[in-house]
Amino acid sequence: MSPKRTAVEPAVVVIFGASGDLTQRKLVPALHSLACEGALSSATHVIGVARSAFSDGDFRTQLYAGVEGYARLKPGMCALWADFSERHTYLAGEYDDPATYQRLAAALAEVDGRRGTQGNHLFYLATPPTLYPTIIARLGEAGLNHSSTGWTRIIIEKPFGHDLESARSLNAQIHQVFAEEQVYRIDHYLGKETVQNVLTFRFANAIFEPLWNRNYVDHVQITVAETVPVGRRAGYYDGAGVLRDMFQNHLLQLLTLTAMEPPSAFNARALRDEKVKVLQALRRLSLDDLVLGQYQGYLEEEGVTKGSQTATYAALRLYVDNWRWQGVPFYLRSGKALADKVSEITLQFKGVPHLLFPESADLAANRLSLCIQPDESIHLRFETKVPGAGMRTTPVDMTFEYADNYSGRRLPDAYERLLLDALQGDAALFARADEIELAWTVVDPLLNRGVPFPYGPGSWGPAEASLLISQQGCEWDYGCRREKKGGG
Ligand code: BG6
Repeated sequence: MSPKRTAVEPAVVVIFGASGDLTQRKLVPALHSLACEGALSSATHVIGVARSAFSDGDFRTQLYAGVEGYARLKPGMCALWADFSERHTYLAGEYDDPATYQRLAAALAEVDGRRGTQGNHLFYLATPPTLYPTIIARLGEAGLNHSSTGWTRIIIEKPFGHDLESARSLNAQIHQVFAEEQVYRIDHYLGKETVQNVLTFRFANAIFEPLWNRNYVDHVQITVAETVPVGRRAGYYDGAGVLRDMFQNHLLQLLTLTAMEPPSAFNARALRDEKVKVLQALRRLSLDDLVLGQYQGYLEEEGVTKGSQTATYAALRLYVDNWRWQGVPFYLRSGKALADKVSEITLQFKGVPHLLFPESADLAANRLSLCIQPDESIHLRFETKVPGAGMRTTPVDMTFEYADNYSGRRLPDAYERLLLDALQGDAALFARADEIELAWTVVDPLLNRGVPFPYGPGSWGPAEASLLISQQGCEWDYGCRREKKGGG
């Protein structure tokens, strides 16, 4: 993201929560793919910290399964495994025990000396969030929040806080130990190629930005729909719900990238300043702007509290009260156990001011859809004349597909990009303290309010969500999969 990227310096990556899912499925597979491409310094070393009594060998066996199963570039594709796995060591310890951090300090000194990692340390908190304050405090007490010869950074996984108050308190605890410049709050949506492409699309092209405002845009829809139910994660999810799990972070990030003003430069400060301005301009939500849902069968999931009213679906109507967006509704929806997996941002444009073709009285509005996943593409819908007599029109779709244009290239996983950025000291794709707190300010008043409407698994959510959007004469649209229109 920075205008000029720095080389990747050798570093030790310390992962807290090293025996967990995230490490196995995302972090180490991402590091492996980066290493395969030669994107990391060959001195990079990983120390995994967790409570399980693993040996280095156990740890490496677990990592191998993860890399084999989930990495973009698997061991067989780059013949690097022997060296790569040898650079992964394990340290068993209790997170609240100061002795763990003394041993970690010794291990860091040893690795720095042996590998030449120059005192560059990147800590990654991949534990349950309740442990973050303890780990951060202990790192500080052990003097591991700085390094005399290199840099020290810390990546903090989501969820960042449980509500506004806890997010503020976590920020305060972090700032007692680390300076803001050392802190990288992750939102993996920002690591997705197609999400970054929202910025390229808007600011590397001259023809779209003039239309990107209240004069031409009727409304904006942002959908992040998932087919999967909560499954194994019910224990966590039941205490979180969709507003905390998806809206406070991913959905609001997509909104800010869509609505922000052009930053003056492509760096962390300028980009995050503009995103913050969008969050500051969001009109305070009322309960009329919210529809919650819970899929039928959720209450039977293992780990869900009896009679739980946790929402697994939400639809929101938001307004950005500024010069560019005044009066343009932004409709956001996300849920589990829905009809299809799709993440997209769709701008619906205003209709023509005067209809010349009476045979086509119900002209479809122009629509631009930025398709984030799974079919990474961009679609622009416009009207054309149906061949033959008369002037009947029909909408057609102009499409850019990543797969066609970058064939043979599997898009890098979000964690590859984000780990690399953190190793390079580029925080542009990470959330700043004020940004996180402002996002909580939006979501916080809606927490524990309203009773979710039931919806059938495999549907598009509760019917009430259609009413939310139809009040202004709109309907949920679906620009990224033309053959499966619908929703709501
Ligand atoms: C996570 C949420 O942050 O994002 C999950 O906790 C959700 O509930 C996931 O499934 C979605 O991410 P992606 O990349 O699959 O869209």
